[in-house]
Amino acid sequence: MPERTRTLVMTGATSGIGAHALTRLMARAGTRAIIGARPSSTRPARDGVEVLPLDLSSLAEVREFAAAVPGRLDGEPIDMLVLNAGAQFMNTSARSADGFELAFAVNHLAHYLLARLLLPAVAQGGRIVLTTSDTHDPRIFRSAPTRVDVRGWAHAPGSAASAYAASKLGNLLTAEAIAALPETVERRITTIAFNPGLTGGTGLSRAFPGPLRQAMSALRPAFILLSRLRPQLYMNTPEHAGDVLAQLADGTLAPPAGRIYASLVRGQLTYPDPSTLAQDPAAREELWRESADLTGLPSR
Ligand SMILES: NC(=O)c1ccc[n+]([C@@H]2O[C@H](COP(=O)([O-])OP(=O)(O)OC[C@H]3O[C@@H](n4cnc5c(N)ncnc54)[C@H](OP(=O)(O)O)[C@@H]3O)[C@@H](O)[C@H]2O)c1
Repeated sequence: MPERTRTLVMTGATSGIGAHALTRLMARAGTRAIIGARPSSTRPARDGVEVLPLDLSSLAEVREFAAAVPGRLDGEPIDMLVLNAGAQFMNTSARSADGFELAFAVNHLAHYLLARLLLPAVAQGGRIVLTTSDTHDPRIFRSAPTRVDVRGWAHAPGSAASAYAASKLGNLLTAEAIAALPETVERRITTIAFNPGLTGGTGLSRAFPGPLRQAMSALRPAFILLSRLRPQLYMNTPEHAGDVLAQLADGTLAPPAGRIYASLVRGQLTYPDPSTLAQDPAAREELWRESADLTGLPSR
């Protein structure tokens, strides 16, 4: 009997890690993808890939995208929901269409809303992957948050580095919260928060001055050497990180029972404990409730 077509819904598929993951996932026959992308982005023109407009800096656009997806599914569920888009900025002055700090809005709040709106369409036994970062963890990154402060992150952020780290903690806590929902457990949906680790040659640093970006790429061997002392400084490639993201999305790689944090450390996939805060059920609850409030959803 021919296998049923498997369906991928994805953000952040137009560049860097996500573009490689999409290529790998589409290499298997019988896969189709619906990706959300900004009009300005490079659109992957491939058989089986449908592109719908999505700018994550607007909650209205997130809602429009989420409303359009079921119409494209032809009654089939989503097998893989990959929420990978992310952005990093030089400062915290930019605001989203809804008036929130931009890294927080794009990386965390938009994906929180999208995950909640699309969760009912995820297949029994399906998989949800949110791309986080080890910068969420104060043991690894000095600017990482030590408490949940959703209103502060939204309206009165500190440095650009702390705003990015907070948004990535938001991704991790969202993944934890989704994994704990009764409907997710009942429908045996696997939820994963994936840290690709420092990855050179992607578009993430595009807001940074050109010479800084070039220096980062040229210094890859030095970063790899330094990673013997500080593993988080190992510089990964977008190809490898994308490959691992694809394998987590399609279940080729599966976290051990009870683990949801999948982290590339010196290029190897590991399942370490995330930060203390990321393991705190009260932090998870607060993030969920406050994010629901900001996106106009009920908290339950
Ligand atoms: N690179 C690293 O060192 C590293 C480390 C840890 C975690 N990560 C995470 O890995 C993920 C992928 O990043 P990357 O390094 O591959 O960077 P990238 O090449 O810049 O890819 C980012 C993706 O997000 C999309 N995106 C950004 N802002 C968007 C918006 N407002 N609306 C819709 N889509 C938007 C981009 O679309 P466009 O094509 O339109 O720009 C692109 O497809 C991110 O979540 C990032 O935080 C990266």
